[in-house]
Order: sequence, then C-alpha cells, then structure tokens
Amino acid sequence: MNQPYYMAYEDRYRRVFEAGIELWGHSPDDEILVRTLTEWVEKNDLAGKTVAEFACGEGAAGVILSKLGVRYRGFDIAPSAVKKAGERLRDFPYARVEQLDMVKETAGLPETFDAALDCMGFHMLLTDTDRDAYLKNVHDVLKPGAPMLFFRESYRENAYTGVVESFEHWKEITGDDYTTPQLRTNPDGKEIRIPCVPARARNREGYTTELERAGFAVENFTGMDQSSAIQYSVSIYARKR
Ligand SMILES: C[S@@+](CC[C@H](N)C(=O)[O-])C[C@H]1O[C@@H](n2cnc3c(N)ncnc32)[C@H](O)[C@@H]1O
Repeated sequence: MNQPYYMAYEDRYRRVFEAGIELWGHSPDDEILVRTLTEWVEKNDLAGKTVAEFACGEGAAGVILSKLGVRYRGFDIAPSAVKKAGERLRDFPYARVEQLDMVKETAGLPETFDAALDCMGFHMLLTDTDRDAYLKNVHDVLKPGAPMLFFRESYRENAYTGVVESFEHWKEITGDDYTTPQLRTNPDGKEIRIPCVPARARNREGYTTELERAGFAVENFTGMDQSSAIQYSVSIYARKR
C-alpha cells in the first residue's frame, strides 16, 4: 500500500534526471542549510561522529556534513536519488548512502548513531501509522541523548489535526494527488512539468506531540523563511530522551 506512493519520488527523480536536470532537492550550496548544519555540528560536537540522514535525496546535506568532518550515512527509498547521492559523495571516504524504506526498515543496530538529520523527509509521511513507525525506527538507532534535526518541515498553524489513515484518506481531506503534472522549478531555476508529491503539514502542537510520544524532547522550534522548495516550514531541534 505504501510502496507505490513513496516510490512516486523514484518516478520524479527519473524524470528530472532524464530531462538533464542535475539537482532537484536541496543544493549543497544552500546558505541556510549550510549555516544551520554548521551550527548544529559545532553545538553538538559531531565532527568525527556518525550521523544518519533519513530521506537524504541527492546528498546535499551529506556533502555539507562530510565537509564538516562528520562520518555520514544517508538513506533514501528512491534508487535514483541514492545513486546520485553516491556520485556526489564519491570523494568523501567516510560517506555512504543506501536504499532504505525508513518506515519499514531499520538503519542499523540499536544505538548505532550519534545524531540524525531529516531534511523535508518526515513531512512526506502522510499516515499517522507511518510517521510513528519512522520515528520509532530512528529513535531505536540513536544513542541515548543523541540530537536529531528536522529541517524545513511543512508547517501550518491550522494544519489538519485528525488521524490520517491512508493516502486515499489524505486525498479525500486535501484533494492532493501525486499524478497531476504541474510546472515546477529546481534550485537553479530550471523548469519541468512533473507531479508534486504531497506533504503533510503540522502545527507546533502536532509536531511536538508526535515527537514526544516517540521519546524525543523538543528543544527548539524555529520558523523558516519561504524558500524555493517550500512556503511555510519549521526546523525542529530534538533530542533522544
Ligand atoms: C522532499 S524530498 C527531500 C530530499 C532531500 N532531503 C532534500 O532536502 O533535498 C523527500 C525525500 O524523501 C524520500 N522518501 C520518501 N518516502 C521515503 C521512505 N519511506 N523511506 C525513505 N525515504 C523516503 C524521497 O525519496 C525523497 O528523496
């Protein structure tokens, strides 16, 4: 049931790369991402430590973290993104990227990682069951007290607060689908007609409740400026309790 929906990304990456567009998601030069990760790594003393990134896409954050001296492990469900991220990280000996369904699979043994990052990945999970399963998987593989940063996750003050049971249910609530082509633009301003894969916005209480339920403490909740990727978003600094 999940697989066709989450694999919509694979279709999107293929169409983008076939159109000769080298980069769709975050760029390794995204100034706000660079600044945020630099501060996060310094504050949590993560240089030389092992950091997992879930829904890593094409590896932009992997490049930034590797330059900061982190031992990077990226995970994504879409094989084309994993391949592209691997190519982008080729020159960093401590970086690895693997295919993984973060909802259904674990990224390693319990308490493997010193920290975790999620850039616009968590908000892609629509159902409550999948969101809880993902957070549990991440929580299990983090060491006690490990920080986790959720960067640029979709935010709405008036976000839907009920339970979402399935993709079809989300479609009934919002009208969103992942098949209708729309004119979209990448970070370099290149245009292509491809579907928009829906994301689920939360408000502050919604994010805090589900993170705390999964065993994280929320330490900071920061509103983000509008970017080419998303209009209303937040970054959440959490820590495994
Ligand atoms: C909005 S993109 C963000 C990509 C990248 N983090 C960035 O900021 O450029 C969402 C990513 O989530 C990945 N994804 C969606 N469902 C997933 C799942 N169940 N497990 C792992 N990755 C998933 C997609 O393949 C896609 O790369």
